[in-house]
Amino acid sequence: MKAWDGVAYDALPLPHEQWGKRTIEALKLQPTETLLDAGCGTGRDAQLALAQLPNGNLVCVDQSTTMLDQCRTRFGDDSRVQILEGDLDHVLPVEPASIDAIMSVAALHWLTDHNNVWQHFYNALKPGGRIATDCGGFGNLAKTLALVPQIDEAIRFPDWYYANVADTEGLLKKAGFVDIEVSLRPHPTPLPDKETLATYLKTLVFRDWNDDQISKMSDLLTDNTLDYVRLEVRASKA
Ligand SMILES: C[S@@+](CC[C@H](N)C(=O)[O-])C[C@H]1O[C@@H](n2cnc3c(N)ncnc32)[C@H](O)[C@@H]1O
Repeated sequence: MKAWDGVAYDALPLPHEQWGKRTIEALKLQPTETLLDAGCGTGRDAQLALAQLPNGNLVCVDQSTTMLDQCRTRFGDDSRVQILEGDLDHVLPVEPASIDAIMSVAALHWLTDHNNVWQHFYNALKPGGRIATDCGGFGNLAKTLALVPQIDEAIRFPDWYYANVADTEGLLKKAGFVDIEVSLRPHPTPLPDKETLATYLKTLVFRDWNDDQISKMSDLLTDNTLDYVRLEVRASKA
């Protein structure tokens, strides 16, 4: 799949910013804590969180070098911040039991399943550590994706995994988490105009499509609205 364009990503009016704020609020960060942002992208959400960590630390993890380049530009030489390349399907690139809180926004549905990720998060957390995550959940973009065959029946999308509440609760319990809260939250997101919608689709949702396919999808989305459904997770390590 085509690489992420971190500069174009940061220039868009993203619903991710709202998802990020909700996620950060849920963590109730303390000033000296160490926070890990899993799938940090360009670090836009992580930067918001860092404002709450004047004497703390931030570890940003992502597998995309293009997104991490933009993330490095954002944080410059801030000594509180560590930026690491890593695949969330594997063990996190940090010491076990070294992290106070883990956030993740709009990243975990890119994993083909969640069988490993919660266990890896659990192992990275200190006792009493917390997670707050957002990602596409069951039913995410269902109306949008149902339009794709009208453009070309041969188009295949990435292997997005839109988990449901019961499966997620089961995996969190199996990993050892307590105080588990999992919910699905519909968040229909209108884009301001067709031009922004097309740029949004090309930068985020259908990165491999050509201009003609993107233009057709923009036309089919008559209300300029993406039917997002967010899977939100909050849990702690005892
Ligand atoms: C839509 S962006 C979200 C970025 C950021 N959290 C935000 O809300 O703006 C999804 C990010 O997840 C990252 N990602 C997807 N699969 C990943 C994996 N297996 N390991 C690490 N990062 C991954 C991508 O590289 C990308 O930066």
